[in-house]
This record gives sequence, structure tokens and C-alpha cells, in this order.
Amino acid sequence: MGLAEISEGKSANMRHGEHIIVRLTYISRYNNHNENGEVTRILAQAQQNNERNGITGALVFNHNYFLQSIEGARPVINELLRKLVKDQRHFSLQVIECTEVDQRRWNKWSMKYLIPSEQNKAQALKFSTGNEFNPYLMSTNQILMLIDTLSAQQEREEQEKQRASKKKSWFSIS
Ligand SMILES: Cc1cc2nc3c(=O)[nH]c(=O)nc-3n(C[C@H](O)[C@H](O)[C@H](O)COP(=O)(O)O)c2cc1C
Repeated sequence: MGLAEISEGKSANMRHGEHIIVRLTYISRYNNHNENGEVTRILAQAQQNNERNGITGALVFNHNYFLQSIEGARPVINELLRKLVKDQRHFSLQVIECTEVDQRRWNKWSMKYLIPSEQNKAQALKFSTGNEFNPYLMSTNQILMLIDTLSAQQEREEQEKQRASKKKSWFSIS
């Protein structure tokens, strides 16, 4: 392939906005008529597809509710949004935010799965109204702050893991 063809291909891609990275955050309600293990299947499907489509993100799930942040090329995210709206495994999807970003927040994960643990349950409730995690009762700001906090927490945990594995390999050499 010649240089002209490569740059033509690149500009054809750019015509659709592939070079623009957006992050879309939404909430939805889990459809309780789903079979057992459906969330595991959703996650596996998301991770497999996202890896192929250059999407990264996080999925927070708590019995009845999903909160998901997806990041990727604008046309790709729009295509996924179309599929998500039609997906009957959840309903009442509400877009919280869609914004262009310079940097991905979840770049290490094709889809990080977060369920309220003792640690992040406290975080979730800190930003919630009431005693239960219900994103429908949360303001846009509260949801975005929660996502910020969760991603900072994941980043810290990841760095700690890396530090620990470096230490380990150093010890095993000596
Ligand atoms: C809560 C929830 C989150 C999902 N997240 C993703 C996702 O991150 N990426 C993805 O490709 N599909 C995701 N899906 C599945 C899509 O709705 C859709 O079924 C899938 O993208 C279709 O893929 P296919 O065209 O390869 O069959 C999710 C579904 C649900 C219910």
C-alpha cells in the first residue's frame, strides 16, 4: 500500500470522527427476568467486543442497577449506544453524560467490573441519597463524582499491584 493510499484511508476514517474520543456514562435498570448468570455473560460479551472495538470502561452493578462508563471513538460509542438501548437485559437507560476527552480514564480495562464491596459501597453511599445505591436518585454531579472516585481508587490499586510485583521479582532475583 502506498503512502497516498494510507493517508487516504486515514482521512476516510477521520471523516466519521474516529479520531475523536468520547466518554459516555449512563444508568439503567437490570431486567430481573433474566436468567441466572446473565450479568457474567453481559460482562464477557462487553470485554470481548470492546477489545475488538477499542472501547474501554467500567460497569458498576448492584442487584437492580447498572452504571456504566464507556470510552472510545465517537462513531463506535454511538453504535454501541444504539445496541444498548435495544438490549432487553436492561431498561430505562438514561444518559448521564457524553463528553469528548483528551485521555481515557479506564484505559487499562476493556470493561472493569465493579460490584459494591465494603470499600466502594461506602464511596457509592457517600454520593447517594438514602441507604441503598440507586443511581436514579443521584444527581448528575454525584454520579460523575462517584465515577471519578472509583477510577482513582482502581488506579491506586493497580499501582500498588505493580509495585508489589516489582518488589517480588526483585526479591526472587536476589
Ligand atoms: C448493562 C449492559 C452493558 C453492556 N456493555 C456492553 C459493552 O460495553 N460493549 C458491548 O459491546 N456490548 C455491551 N453490552 C451488550 C450490548 O447491549 C449488545 O448486546 C452487544 O454489543 C451486541 O453485540 P454483537 O453486535 O456483537 O452481537 C451491554 C449490555 C448490557 C445490558
